[in-house]
Amino acid sequence: MINIRTNVFNPISPTQADFLPDHVISIEHGKIASITSFAEYQGSWEDCRNSIALPGLIDLHVHLSQYRIRGLYYPALLPWLEHSVFPEEERSRDSDYARKLSRDFYLALLKNGTTFSVIYTAPFREAADIAFEVAQELGIRAKIGMTLMDMNAPQPLLQSTDYALKHSIDLFEKWQNPFLGYIFTPRFAPTCSECLMREVAKYARQHEAFVQTHLSENPDEIAWVKEIFGKESYTAVYKDFGLLGPRTILGHAIHLSDAELALLKDSSSAIAHCPDSNFYLKSGEYPLPRISAAGIPFGLGSDVGAGTSLNMLYHAKLMNFRQSKYPVLPAEMLYRITLGNARILHLEHSIGSLDGGKDADMILLTPPRGFEIKEQSLSQLCFSGEDFTLSRLYLQGRRINLEQ
Ligand code: GUN
Ligand code: FE
Repeated sequence: MINIRTNVFNPISPTQADFLPDHVISIEHGKIASITSFAEYQGSWEDCRNSIALPGLIDLHVHLSQYRIRGLYYPALLPWLEHSVFPEEERSRDSDYARKLSRDFYLALLKNGTTFSVIYTAPFREAADIAFEVAQELGIRAKIGMTLMDMNAPQPLLQSTDYALKHSIDLFEKWQNPFLGYIFTPRFAPTCSECLMREVAKYARQHEAFVQTHLSENPDEIAWVKEIFGKESYTAVYKDFGLLGPRTILGHAIHLSDAELALLKDSSSAIAHCPDSNFYLKSGEYPLPRISAAGIPFGLGSDVGAGTSLNMLYHAKLMNFRQSKYPVLPAEMLYRITLGNARILHLEHSIGSLDGGKDADMILLTPPRGFEIKEQSLSQLCFSGEDFTLSRLYLQGRRINLEQ
């Protein structure tokens, strides 16, 4: 039994976060057994009174294969893919490179307080398997997908439709355990044939599997989709090929008509909003008030390597900063990187908040010297998170060595 005396901020909803000052979090068999006010607690405890406990952070959209090209700048999506991303993803064909990259990436996730992530890997079966193997060695929790491209990609990255489908299905069947799962990952419509998208959608629906892709990030990309598929909208392409649904996560979703919002809402699809990436690539401003009003679920992703950092508190801040008019409040900032993302992943019964019976995926953050921990501290944590030190991280109750 682990008993930690500390202060807790617990996400409840986009408008509510509970503050539990001076409480004892008790952990047993990898789960939170109880959270008790210290005034009512009897028993031994470890002193973390100088810290704030949060549920482990969740990154809803991140590219493992792009970890090393963070900050390698091209000012628009399509040239950036061509010049920065594709040459780097090609390097993961080399297993040694892919293994070292995976390890560096996962250790960096942990050092940033992320305990669950939804990952795109390079378009090679072996690199995807390595991403799973290294995750398993380190005890990482994630959904991982091999990025699929069977057209309009450079030759070394191009897969046959059969290769893309066969290996995705193999990976899906192979990697299913309490820590790791597969997510079908057609990169985006311009690089995926109709046949590939339809077959992925059919299989995923039959097997209740998750799917991720990118949607309406950039005007040139949208024009390209129109040219290839000729449908009334980008969203309609995914809708017609069966890719929308309650286990579908769409990266970005910036430039959308009302008809497209209705398609997303009716299909219960979710959006991974990536504010840092959106402004890095000058993709545009996420229509947060319209998305919220339409009732479409959305969460936050780092989108590394178009995102510049793996730190989800930084991305929560960017979510506020990248709205020119709508003031995102701290309770929502916390929610979107924890419980909100867990709900999108249908994992809210086990992760996303610190509640009795949930997995003990938890971080402790120590504020800067002289800082008083009180109810308003959540706001300071959200806007000045970089001043806080990650002092501990627990994955299912196991304390992870952050010095590796
Ligand atoms: N659209 C298609 N592929 C990508 C990618 O790797 N990153 C981003 N940000 N958008 C994409
Ligand atoms: Fe992305």
